[in-house]
Amino acid sequence: MEGNKKISPTAWMVAEGRTFSDIPFSREIFREVQKIGRKGVGPDPDDVEKITAADLAPRFEARYKIINHLVRGFGFRQVLEIASGLTPRGIEMTEEGSVDTYVEMDLPGIIKIKRMIVKIIYRELKKKKRRLFLEEGDALDNKAVFKAAGYFDAARPIAVVSEGLLRYLNFKEKAEVARNIHHLLAVFGGAWITPDVTVRSNRRYPYEARRNEYIERLTGIDMEKNKFESVGAAQRFFEELGFRVEQRMLGEIADSLVSPGILGLPVSDIKKRLEKSPAFVLSLSGK
Ligand SMILES: C[S@@+](CC[C@H](N)C(=O)[O-])C[C@H]1O[C@@H](n2cnc3c(N)ncnc32)[C@H](O)[C@@H]1O
Repeated sequence: MEGNKKISPTAWMVAEGRTFSDIPFSREIFREVQKIGRKGVGPDPDDVEKITAADLAPRFEARYKIINHLVRGFGFRQVLEIASGLTPRGIEMTEEGSVDTYVEMDLPGIIKIKRMIVKIIYRELKKKKRRLFLEEGDALDNKAVFKAAGYFDAARPIAVVSEGLLRYLNFKEKAEVARNIHHLLAVFGGAWITPDVTVRSNRRYPYEARRNEYIERLTGIDMEKNKFESVGAAQRFFEELGFRVEQRMLGEIADSLVSPGILGLPVSDIKKRLEKSPAFVLSLSGK
């Protein structure tokens, strides 16, 4: 199995959404994305803006912040982020010193762009990059996942983190990624932290239909088919693959969101939704 590089431009969309938050380095990253976009790479910037700005920014902000909250809370000092896209997390966590070694892994096209952006950011910071490594690799490829983990101290546990990946993968691919991470955690110990628990819902939000249509056009993926039937079904899916599932809620960080205020969105509705949105902390069962 091989990673679908058509998914990669969705990373631009998320990078744009984060500019409506207080997440460090978001604006710097997206400024550079726009410069690259003007050279004709990636989706139409107008299209991206319409889809993300008003509706998705709180979701992107929340899932970013719940991962930070959990990584810091558990005290992980080594992190592998798979499908890292254009996230600022590696820069943020190595700069604040909460993490010693941060490895970002994504498909080659995105990593190439990310390396350029990270270089510019550090030049502006007038600093040298710390132990932040950008690795080309396919999450479906066990060897690539192990290679990316080559920077870690094998005597200490790791956090594997991912956001915005599983919804693009079918169930066979999700299981493949999960098995690769399971192998890794069997060696290092630690946990996989992900808010990627997208479930079917009867309630349709107008922006979701627009967003899905846009993403389907971009990637050729039928997103609906990739959703879990329910949170319980998602939990069983991971348990059958040998994980113990701890459910946490995005509501834990709801008070730290700034994008609803910036965008004039209904804060209480957003908070209610986050209270029902889980993030999974997956560790090996029987350990
Ligand atoms: C919606 S973006 C999310 C990026 C990032 N996690 C964020 O939240 O900003 C999806 C990312 O998944 C990456 N991706 C898709 N399939 C992948 C695979 N098989 N292996 C590694 N990365 C993959 C894409 O290149 C893209 O960067």
